[in-house]
Amino acid sequence: MSSKITRVSLTLPQGLLDELDRMLEAQRYASRSEAFRDAIRDFLANYRWRSELKGEQLGAILVLYEHDVRGLMDELMDIQHEHSSVISAVQHLHIDAKNCLEVLIVKGAAGKIRSLIDRIGATRGVKQAKLVVV
Ligand code: NI
Repeated sequence: MSSKITRVSLTLPQGLLDELDRMLEAQRYASRSEAFRDAIRDFLANYRWRSELKGEQLGAILVLYEHDVRGLMDELMDIQHEHSSVISAVQHLHIDAKNCLEVLIVKGAAGKIRSLIDRIGATRGVKQAKLVVV
């Protein structure tokens, strides 16, 4: 892996940045950059773990999202219908005025479950998508 350092810029909601800064101070992080590097490594490690799942799996996908993002609920519904062969059950909780939590119980081929969580995670407006297997 190259040790060359590249500078990138990104846009974030102010509330997210404020929360990050409070966390950095509490954890005595050296810098925002160090926190982003750790977060990206964690994101990649999680992706690698998911990529290596094989065979039949049983688990759950937790999805946190804002239901009023335009087109998001239609998109999530389309994705779920396309993957209905691995979704055994869906539980939806309206957390507050904006946020929803959906828990999908998944059972079936690892590749299909991976496709499901990859699609959900990449959808704009989804704040978190986590896969747990048992
Ligand atoms: Ni809801």
